[in-house]
Amino acid sequence: MSHSIDYTAPQPLRPSLPPDAAALPTAHPPSSVRPSRWPARLDLLQSLSGLLLALFLIAHMAFVSTILISPQAFYTVARFFEGAWLLGRPYPVLVSLVAASIMALLMLHAWLAMRKFPAGFRQYRAFIAHKNRLQHGDTSLWWLQVWTGFLLFFLASIHLYDMLSQPELIGPYASADRVWSGGLWPLYLLLLFSVELHGGIGLYRLAVKWGLFGGKTRARLHLARHAFSAFFITLGLVTLLAYIDLGREHAPRAGERYQPPSTSASHHH
Ligand code: HEM
Repeated sequence: MSHSIDYTAPQPLRPSLPPDAAALPTAHPPSSVRPSRWPARLDLLQSLSGLLLALFLIAHMAFVSTILISPQAFYTVARFFEGAWLLGRPYPVLVSLVAASIMALLMLHAWLAMRKFPAGFRQYRAFIAHKNRLQHGDTSLWWLQVWTGFLLFFLASIHLYDMLSQPELIGPYASADRVWSGGLWPLYLLLLFSVELHGGIGLYRLAVKWGLFGGKTRARLHLARHAFSAFFITLGLVTLLAYIDLGREHAPRAGERYQPPSTSASHHH
């Protein structure tokens, strides 16, 4: 029996390991090697963390867009998450805890996703050639997801650290000041497009991979994906414009906090 190596298959180059440890996948009789369950477990974990992030994002957009109703509406939402209604006084650290959990989830998700990134120039070139040859929609979508995901490593981290380190600076004026006077609107613009495209594709892939949403046809799922991204990008843009508007208006008094009508009324008494 010859221990021949299939030189056409990519061979892991691990000179520090004994030759039979990993580099000879064809040398072992199949019966003696039980395939590891870990790749499947990690895939499931990646899907779950992605689903949780997508659900968070939907809720997040709902909360942030209350600025479109009124500054007072957004103020109420922001104070709600500080728990004063339950604990008697506001605890912004509760928002920090949520931000830290989302950060951890994002890191887990990104770490799991890195397994699928092309490693090095040869794999990169091979994938591009494969993608161009296939001209297959889902393969091109996957590539868009790789790139938006890569961007999100950076864009999402900046925003999350902001929320984690200064949770008390969330409110109609403080947020509008951050967006406009603080110069964060270009970050939010990039973040918005990256995350809504990434999330839309991600949910589509979950549906295809695990048959979520009742096994709809691909055409229906494509429609749903476009609807998802278009809806949240539109809502996000309108919301961002509202923060920019308010921020420009409030720029001369940047830093001043919003006072709800009841509180400012009681000041005058
Ligand atoms: C606990 C975590 C988070 C909190 C508390 C939070 C809170 C906020 C708040 C208050 C704003 C309004 C602007 C501001 O105050 O600066 C905002 C905007 C935004 N956030 Fe978050 N965020 C969190 C996580 C995330 C994550 C994980 C993403 C995406 C990966 C994200 C994407 C965005 C985007 C795109 C905007 C701009 C809104 C728009 O264009 O309408 N946020 N966020």
